[in-house]
Amino acid sequence: GKVVLAYSGGLDTSVILKWLQEAYGCEVVTFTADLGQGEELEPARRKAEMAGVKEIFIEDLREEFTRDFVFPMFRANALYEGVYLLGTSIARPLIAKRQIEIARKVGADAVAHGATGKGNDQVRFELSYYALEPGIRVIAPWREWDLTSRTKLIDFAEKHQIPIAKDKRGEAPFSVDANLLHTSSEGKVLEDPWEEPGEFVYSRTVSPEAAPDKPTYIEVEFERGDAVAIDGERLSPATLLARLNDLGGANGIGRLDLVENRFVGMKSRGVYETPGGTVLHAAHRGIESITLDRGAGHLKDELMPRYAELIYNGFWFSPEREMLQALIDKSQEHVSGTVRLKLYKGSVRVVGRKSPNTLYSLSHVTFEEDAVYDQHDAEGFIKLNALRLKLLRRRGMNQ
Ligand code: ARG
Ligand code: SIN
Repeated sequence: GKVVLAYSGGLDTSVILKWLQEAYGCEVVTFTADLGQGEELEPARRKAEMAGVKEIFIEDLREEFTRDFVFPMFRANALYEGVYLLGTSIARPLIAKRQIEIARKVGADAVAHGATGKGNDQVRFELSYYALEPGIRVIAPWREWDLTSRTKLIDFAEKHQIPIAKDKRGEAPFSVDANLLHTSSEGKVLEDPWEEPGEFVYSRTVSPEAAPDKPTYIEVEFERGDAVAIDGERLSPATLLARLNDLGGANGIGRLDLVENRFVGMKSRGVYETPGGTVLHAAHRGIESITLDRGAGHLKDELMPRYAELIYNGFWFSPEREMLQALIDKSQEHVSGTVRLKLYKGSVRVVGRKSPNTLYSLSHVTFEEDAVYDQHDAEGFIKLNALRLKLLRRRGMNQ
């Protein structure tokens, strides 16, 4: 049969490619996606050709990734465990979806990925595969093969003339996953959660200490919950996110050192850089603050952790995620306007917001005299709210 492999062109997936050809004797079709990881894709093509692959798919998915996955997720202000912006989690369903589409096109009956048997990514890939193509065969080499150490993997690579980057011959210092939204680093030298990660871990942000001493001001414009322009310039979703990455990265914004709970049960330590996403998250909350009704805003805030957990756990293609998405999208109907942000040494602050749909009413809130709000109304409002507290006091509460 034929198998479609999610192929990065790196050492691990190159070994997987060869191993699939050997262990399964099957024809491997490679799929390499540009998700904004900032790597050349042509080497992946050459390596696949060298390995005898006849059907090679290389696709630029940056716009689809940002428009159909990142932006919908940001409408929810999704954070896993309070802080993680889900940069890896949100990319997996898209890769899986394209793998299945390619499998249909080339008549493959199996798909394969390079995630280990210990992590979240295997779950995200495979739940997506099965949701889209229930009968698909899944091959997860890391759960099957006997290349259980780096040495065995390198030996296998050498035996099969797989090119090994010089720095890979020794132990790679940690595992990296990158796309337009974030870079995540895990494992090896990062496994002691008491040890502060060295500066060498970071690749797309300057340290806050080294960031400019002068703040950078930007304006982000939103339409129905999605960012559409920076400083008055309309940009496509991926271009906009890339621009925010540059602005955030230059100001040391978006670094996170986190111990998180993996779906499979263990805790893991990750170091993340999400410069543009961190700015976008703050900006989106800023525009929501004047355009969302309190009831609508608080309801979506309550549901947000559930939504984030669904994405983290790999349930993008599930009815419950779609139901929540419909609710979140509905809430964004009036979330349009402009936010001014101040980027400075690792921090992003909303310092201005305006919208044609604003619910902010100066005439109501002003400390000066007003003609629209009768302060006497507050007396009965408070008294009725106090009624039950007074009755409880009679029964002995707060004595
Ligand atoms: N812990 C993150 C997540 O589950 C990132 C996983 C992949 N990162 C990596 N460096 N291999 O979403
Ligand atoms: C992996 O195990 O392949 C990466 C980490 C994860 O998926 O959580």
